[in-house]
Amino acid sequence: MDKILVLDFGGQYNQLIARRVRELNVYAEIKAYRNIALNQIKEAGYKGIILTGGPNSVYDEKSPHYDPDIFNIGIPVLGICYGAQLIAYLCHGTVRSAEDSSEYGRTELHIEANPLFTGIPADSICWMSHTDFISRLPEGFENSAHTDKCPCAAMYDTSRSIYAVQFHPEVTHTQYGKKILENFVVNICHCEQSWRMEDFIENSVNRYREELKDKKVLLALSGGVDSSVVAVLLNKAIGDNLTCVFVDHGLLRKNEADMVEEVFNTKFHLNMLRVNARKRFLEHLSGVTEPERKRKIIGEEFIRAFEETADSLGKIDILAQGTIYPDVVESGKEESATIKSHHNVGGLPDNIRFERIIEPLRDLFKDEVREVGRQLGLPEDLVFRQPFPGPGLAIRIIGEVTEEKLNTLREADAIFREEITVYDHREDTSQYFAVLTDLRSVGVMGDARTYGYTVALRCVSTDDFMTAEWTRLPYDLLEKASNRIINEVAGISRVVYDITSKPPGTVEWE
Ligand code: XMP
Repeated sequence: MDKILVLDFGGQYNQLIARRVRELNVYAEIKAYRNIALNQIKEAGYKGIILTGGPNSVYDEKSPHYDPDIFNIGIPVLGICYGAQLIAYLCHGTVRSAEDSSEYGRTELHIEANPLFTGIPADSICWMSHTDFISRLPEGFENSAHTDKCPCAAMYDTSRSIYAVQFHPEVTHTQYGKKILENFVVNICHCEQSWRMEDFIENSVNRYREELKDKKVLLALSGGVDSSVVAVLLNKAIGDNLTCVFVDHGLLRKNEADMVEEVFNTKFHLNMLRVNARKRFLEHLSGVTEPERKRKIIGEEFIRAFEETADSLGKIDILAQGTIYPDVVESGKEESATIKSHHNVGGLPDNIRFERIIEPLRDLFKDEVREVGRQLGLPEDLVFRQPFPGPGLAIRIIGEVTEEKLNTLREADAIFREEITVYDHREDTSQYFAVLTDLRSVGVMGDARTYGYTVALRCVSTDDFMTAEWTRLPYDLLEKASNRIINEVAGISRVVYDITSKPPGTVEWE
């Protein structure tokens, strides 16, 4: 299998570079520059190397550098942004910093022909994000692009197959970015475009089978797509040496806990422990109405339940987590793994000690994880599951959480979800659910007066959940959901639809 090394210098878009290469059906591996030595690069058999961007200036004392012999081992190199400046610096050119040459965002690019730019028009748009620039090219290099402010937006040395671009070809705003990466990976590095997601699965399974031989591994399984995919992947690799702990806190949606148990126990025969912690969660939530307090209690109780279960299992060597790329705040920095991973499973206790943590999906984007899940045979409704918050229905019940309110909300929520499934517009229904408000109102059913709770329905469309738009659901759908909820769920006398976008609202009500 041909593969490309993405040598990480701490830039923002590094994972995106790897993803773009994988989209070309060529495998890309990201390694922090300090974790891979030149002889390891040679031995690993990479067909090409991409030096990423990074926040530093090449002249900073602490800025990341690399062995200049990387240019003499016969593997084509492409430097992007900081990577381009590093090439200039290591090959004895000059890099300068000047505030008036800063460029951020969409920029007009003018190119001259070279193998990296095959099939690209002379004038196009690129995405820039820099203050430093290459002011004097190293010997043997030719300038092949400029912008209004940047005299050298690209350079190359074909004799050694070294290419450098100041802009970011990996972001979609660069009009011909994909083509540039394709030119590098396919035409310059001669990679065969044969990699498929099945290969990721096979390689991971083989790797973990070898690496985790005789090790006991623990995974907190939430039933969400990420931890579910890790569970099935590791189960394939190490079978019963993997124990999955599923803490059932009683704040899940209708039939959710049973569904998770059924999928993993019956279909995948996974070594799974379902911990029934419903009573203790409810007891601790009793009388609590303040949202942040609810979250805190749930987080703490989750830790306690997990801790007790881990203790009862004896010695565990390794903790596995379903961290995926968007969870890794400081992108590509391998050393940030532990901090984020703890956060990711709801803050695991410090006193559980593991040899190490593994995160098999940390290079993948959500849609790539879904594809892995699909290939592993996970059911569609689990693979395409909408996100569900860790604190569960507790933050969708305004006011005190009680068993009765949980049951009421579960029923209303299930009806709404059922109706949206019939509607089947996945693209504009990123997340949808019912909220049980603390508000009661008067109604009339038959000839009798009712005085029940108000349920709010919420449906949003979003790409990243940082911003979201309320979905214009068809009136017929809303009418049907509303009628069904009032008729089928006792204790509800009114249904409203939330038409607040984010910002100024948030997706969840609490
Ligand atoms: P907000 O309400 O902040 O939600 O607009 C954005 C997304 O995050 C989810 N969410 C959470 N997920 N633990 C989680 O795992 C939480 O405490 C939590 N709070 C919100 C929310 O469902 C939405 O998808």
